[in-house]
Amino acid sequence: QWTTSSIVDEQVTRIREQIGDGKAICGLSGGVDSAVAAALVQRAIGDRLTCVFVDHGLLRSGERAQVERDYVAATGINLVTVDARERFLNALAGVTDPEEKRKIIGREFIRVFEQAERDLKAEGDYRFLVQGTLYPDVVESGGGTGTANIKSHHNVGGLPDDLQFELVEPLRALFKDEVRRVGTELGLPETIVQRQPFPGPGLGIRIIGEVTQDRLDTLRQADAIAREELTAAGLDRTIWQCPVVLLADVRSVGVQGDGRTYGHPIVLRPVSSEDAMTADWTRLPYEVLERISTRITNEVAEVNRVVLDVTSKPPGTIEWE
Ligand code: XMP
Repeated sequence: QWTTSSIVDEQVTRIREQIGDGKAICGLSGGVDSAVAAALVQRAIGDRLTCVFVDHGLLRSGERAQVERDYVAATGINLVTVDARERFLNALAGVTDPEEKRKIIGREFIRVFEQAERDLKAEGDYRFLVQGTLYPDVVESGGGTGTANIKSHHNVGGLPDDLQFELVEPLRALFKDEVRRVGTELGLPETIVQRQPFPGPGLGIRIIGEVTQDRLDTLRQADAIAREELTAAGLDRTIWQCPVVLLADVRSVGVQGDGRTYGHPIVLRPVSSEDAMTADWTRLPYEVLERISTRITNEVAEVNRVVLDVTSKPPGTIEWE
């Protein structure tokens, strides 16, 4: 009979056995899995755990604050934030190819994270690395399902090759819904526990075209409006996620106020899904679509058109890149 609190107790005992009086590092992505894994380890070994959060500048509005403020308030965890925004922007300058972008973001992420690990190692005896691997990840990586790797997925906390760590993976036996329950049991905020999936490469793969500071600001504003309205309409649990995409290399003619505009389109991609392997486009209420569209075109400079993606997966993937 597995109750959530017995899962927590058992994992805490195991983590204590594994780590002994050692120290551990955990990379936080802002997502559910790493947040719950870290909170479990923190419950077990307290401030011998240090978390590292890399701000790559491709985050959504408010995400850094959610980790730095809400998550820390709920857990009391030791947190180091690495501000790598400029580094990522420089590395992405001039790049438009989707796979190229993903590779660059993944590579830079690992470099930044490894440097943070080195810095910590110089300060203390960190021998353990915490990862939020779930049961489905374990099955997927050993399973060999034969599905082609359509896009290179870069998850946070990629294993460094030259630094020796022993892995701590307290969620290895759990499914996502169990992870959420464990997170709630540990007192994590709803905004983190119920967070919808968000790709590691972040807004970098939701700008179609080159990633620049201005474009990131534009997309971040549009995304915040869409999320605000979806939440206000009580639709967060109905949709699996709703990528908001900026077609940065496309312009169309519009009319606003008393003038002609020549701005960019924003794409809304609301999807319903069980596991992200397949998905259907969500039939959002027209009133909600209307509010999002009106607000984005009124409030976000440079955007004069909002379009809806009505493609299922397959043939479309959930993300545009
Ligand atoms: P696609 O676009 O392949 O997305 O249909 C399937 C799910 O995976 C998420 N996604 C990612 N998650 N790192 C992640 O952690 C990535 O590089 C990445 N790419 C896509 C996507 O948001 C969707 O939930």
